[in-house]
Amino acid sequence: MNEPLRTQMMDRLWELQLSHGYINDEEVSNLAEEFNLSGIEVEGVISFYHFFHRKPTGKYTIYLNNSIVADHKGFNRIKDTLERETGATFGSTDRTGTFGLFLTPCIGLSDQEPSALINFQPFTNLNAIKIKDLISNLKRSIDVESLCDWPADNIRYAPPGGTVFFRDFIPGTVLKKAAKMGTDGVIEELKNAELSGRGGAYYPTWKKWVAAKNQPAHPRYVVCNADEGEPGTFKDRVLMNTKPETLIEGMLLCGYTIGANFGIIYLRGEYRWLKPKLDNAIEAYRKAGLLGKISGGIQGFDFDIRVQMGAGSYVCGEETALLESLEGKRGEPRTKWFFPVEKGYLQQPTVINNVETFCAATRIIEMGSEAWSQLGIPGSPGVKLLSVSGDCRLPGIYEIEWGMTVAELLELCEAEDPFYIQISGPSGECISIKDKYRRISMLDLLARKDIRSGGSIMIFNKQRDLVKVLLNFSEFFKTESCGICTPCRAGNFIIQRKLERLDNGLANPQDLEDLKNWGMIMKNTSRCGLGKTATNSLIYAMDKFRDYFNSKLDKEYNGLNLKFDMEAATEQYEQYKI
Ligand SMILES: Cc1cc2nc3c(=O)[nH]c(=O)nc-3n(C[C@H](O)[C@H](O)[C@H](O)COP(=O)(O)O)c2cc1C
Ligand code: SF4
Repeated sequence: MNEPLRTQMMDRLWELQLSHGYINDEEVSNLAEEFNLSGIEVEGVISFYHFFHRKPTGKYTIYLNNSIVADHKGFNRIKDTLERETGATFGSTDRTGTFGLFLTPCIGLSDQEPSALINFQPFTNLNAIKIKDLISNLKRSIDVESLCDWPADNIRYAPPGGTVFFRDFIPGTVLKKAAKMGTDGVIEELKNAELSGRGGAYYPTWKKWVAAKNQPAHPRYVVCNADEGEPGTFKDRVLMNTKPETLIEGMLLCGYTIGANFGIIYLRGEYRWLKPKLDNAIEAYRKAGLLGKISGGIQGFDFDIRVQMGAGSYVCGEETALLESLEGKRGEPRTKWFFPVEKGYLQQPTVINNVETFCAATRIIEMGSEAWSQLGIPGSPGVKLLSVSGDCRLPGIYEIEWGMTVAELLELCEAEDPFYIQISGPSGECISIKDKYRRISMLDLLARKDIRSGGSIMIFNKQRDLVKVLLNFSEFFKTESCGICTPCRAGNFIIQRKLERLDNGLANPQDLEDLKNWGMIMKNTSRCGLGKTATNSLIYAMDKFRDYFNSKLDKEYNGLNLKFDMEAATEQYEQYKI
């Protein structure tokens, strides 16, 4: 497919970044000329993404994950050891330019923390000894790829009748079946199965596909959102590592149904190590005649797929920011004049679905909507993947039938003294252990309207400091806000300052009120879902753990230091005014 030159911008930046660890002045000028842009525009793109740098990042660029789960599993010890062993301090390189140390939020390995990326290869379950060995090997120029860990899949549970997502799959079978059913038949099956988007908004998949199918414009595109940036979420990583064929087949199915000829997998920069796996699976599909001209032998259906790397930006998981990034621009969310199904990639009709959604679509057509609907509960048919991490003995992937209670899940993962449970990452809802009999379903937990919910469950025990957890979340949102709208840019900053007051025992009841008010302002006035959901966990926590928050208030507070009111303070001097 002929895409405009600008769509190659991210790949060109990656090439330069990887070849010598940064992008220099001359290269910026060359890119500007090559793409017919101003130098400032190129700088604007570079500065948007965490993994593109304008200064050298060392022969070995190390990104250490600073998510809250990592923090609880020994992040500080690893951070200190890395500084000691490399001679670099975080945020810079050592004097010799060998090691660059950087912090990054969640790299999709919450089930094996502490973890880090070195030259974008994964290193998991780190401890001080492992770090010492590692750095000494790197000093001897031993190849990073020969040292890295291939992350375990940690698939811990499947329904009693057997796994749906992870069972064997024969490429092409679903496409063949779809060709027999016709496009209306595919839509009907997805509708009967009540499949809804697993990226977190739970919008009915069939409706999205029909909307794209009914657009007058061509060409049309299929985009897979493999950005998986919500801290604590890693189900898409495991799906892509174990069953990339079911993702490709789901994209083919969508392409066939909506009349598209091209698909793109937008893969988060943190999963760069997974790219060869996806590329190989795509190539195998091409070789088998399932991708390319007359895909799967279906006359008139030519479909191909490529992988596009992201470069470290959580907001690029938001579908319109993702489109901007695909087009080689800063990943700033678009104003919502159009849905992507109307004007998406290159302003053409585009279906964007999550990895799990495409994989589920494949399985639904494979097994039939009737068999799918026998799983789960009425109103919530089928199965769901959960990413479980935190204070439990068995972190990993749980494929559950919808309707399982939190209590059952906690037992399965051998949770240790659970107290505070974060459902769906920092932008989700938190519950207290008192709510453990609530059900994970479309009718209760996970699919609430105001919450984006990819299906992660982070467990925190009583010893964990809830304010510190919330501070970690607010730091995350502050760093990841694209800054284009004020409520999100300023709000995340203010919330963090207030939480710091609470953490330092200096907050008063008015601070708690302010926190809530700011949360509501951000929810109601932010442009995109990042700002709208950034205070969800805080607002829910303040409601669910009222006693805890009250216990954190300034003990000395007597109502006098509530606010300094200049007018009231100067009132008595008004009479002296001339
Ligand atoms: C800040 C933000 C981050 C998001 N991150 C992701 C993500 O990593 N993966 C994903 O599939 N959807 C993510 N979404 C949701 C997407 O915008 C979109 O709804 C989803 O990709 C649609 O696919 P689905 O219908 O299959 O869920 C995010 C939304 C927001 C606001
Ligand atoms: S809400 Fe935040 S991330 Fe979203 S557009 Fe506004 S500033 Fe950017």
